[in-house]
Amino acid sequence: MTRDDCEALDRRDPLAAHRDAFALPDGVIYLDGNSLGALPRATLPRLRQVIEDEWGERLIRAWNDAGWIEAPRRVGAKIAKLIGAAPHEVVCADSTSINLFKVLAAALKLQSERPQVSMRERRLIVSERGNFPTDLYIAQGLAEWLGGRYELRLVEFNEVTAAIDESVAAVMLTHVNYRTGAKHSLTSVTYRAQQAGALAIWDLAHSVGAVPVDLNAAHVDFAVGCGYKYLNGGPGAPAFLYVADRHLKALAGERFVQPLAGWLGHRAPFDFAPDYEPARSIDRFCVGTPSILALAALECGVDTVLAAGIDALRAKSVQLTELFMRLVEERCAGFGLRLVTPRDAGYRGSQVSLAHANAWPIMQALIARGVIGDFRAPDILRFGFAPLYLRFVDVWDAVEALREVLTSGSWDQPHFHQRKAVT
Ligand SMILES: Cc1ncc(COP(=O)(O)O)c(C=O)c1O
Repeated sequence: MTRDDCEALDRRDPLAAHRDAFALPDGVIYLDGNSLGALPRATLPRLRQVIEDEWGERLIRAWNDAGWIEAPRRVGAKIAKLIGAAPHEVVCADSTSINLFKVLAAALKLQSERPQVSMRERRLIVSERGNFPTDLYIAQGLAEWLGGRYELRLVEFNEVTAAIDESVAAVMLTHVNYRTGAKHSLTSVTYRAQQAGALAIWDLAHSVGAVPVDLNAAHVDFAVGCGYKYLNGGPGAPAFLYVADRHLKALAGERFVQPLAGWLGHRAPFDFAPDYEPARSIDRFCVGTPSILALAALECGVDTVLAAGIDALRAKSVQLTELFMRLVEERCAGFGLRLVTPRDAGYRGSQVSLAHANAWPIMQALIARGVIGDFRAPDILRFGFAPLYLRFVDVWDAVEALREVLTSGSWDQPHFHQRKAVT
């Protein structure tokens, strides 16, 4: 494999033209689209339009006239196409953390009202010890707020299925692990959970927009996901949540299915009634006024993914990650790097993680050379491959930069050792 070979791959790449949809800075190879997606070219003019024409000219009328009030459902319906959901099962709202709180609470509520399949009390929420901390904190907090009725049980990645039995109320996992890039089987874990009478809740933060997901085919109960990673929605973009149609129907007669009963979850918010009466749709998972600017930016980002098609994106993502692993093995051997991500494409998302004792300063040295990945404590160099705007030649150049940083030892300068607030 040579750089020329990579250029040849780029010439044959059916997604090559999609890179033009992004405003990427010169001299940068961006391998952090799994953390903050790049800026779509369409976003700036769209935000200008929303600010100048809609907010500036139409003022309050824009809630009706410019489709503002429908934006959470409209953008949710677009995301639904990427995750195998029906349009009415997805809505954009809040952050991933808050959405997880809402759907976990709803799942526990559903469980508490179901006839039990066994005499054992369902008091466990099962998750992975290496899950993203916010997911674990939300579950811990909710369990404590519910008076200790539930307990979060953490197991290793490979122990999840074995840990599911009839004492489990909910299995709450992130599809693709943020640190290792390892991917759970959404279908078989969901199946196992439901066989034991548990509900399956998935965090799609590291899959949506890069890995095909079919929530309805897998019969998933609830899901949440992030707008600012592979969906390119911008820093702090709104997140989304999914509730399976069968649960929307089952919950329709319930007044409070999740604790954050805000006015935009009300059946008729503009009746301004003193008593809460929930919407009979997924709207009941909405809480307060959405950020219209943020939703407009998210919609531009989601459109970039829809334009390419998720299957084509996955095919290229597998090629990019495969190439990166192969080149690192061939060209960076002997420097103490250890591949953490599964070699088998079926078991990984769209990132490659390498462990190294000096991962932090090595990543700082790479960033100084324009190759932007990130660091995850304690020792992970994390490289995300966003197939919409990355080229094969970028993979070659990134590995060359890594090789030079390691060979020259340039990472071992004092300023590269200084930690920053965001890693
Ligand atoms: C798996 C996962 N869940 C949730 C989050 C973040 O949630 P929030 O957007 O609420 O900060 C992240 C952020 O990286 C994540 O990786």
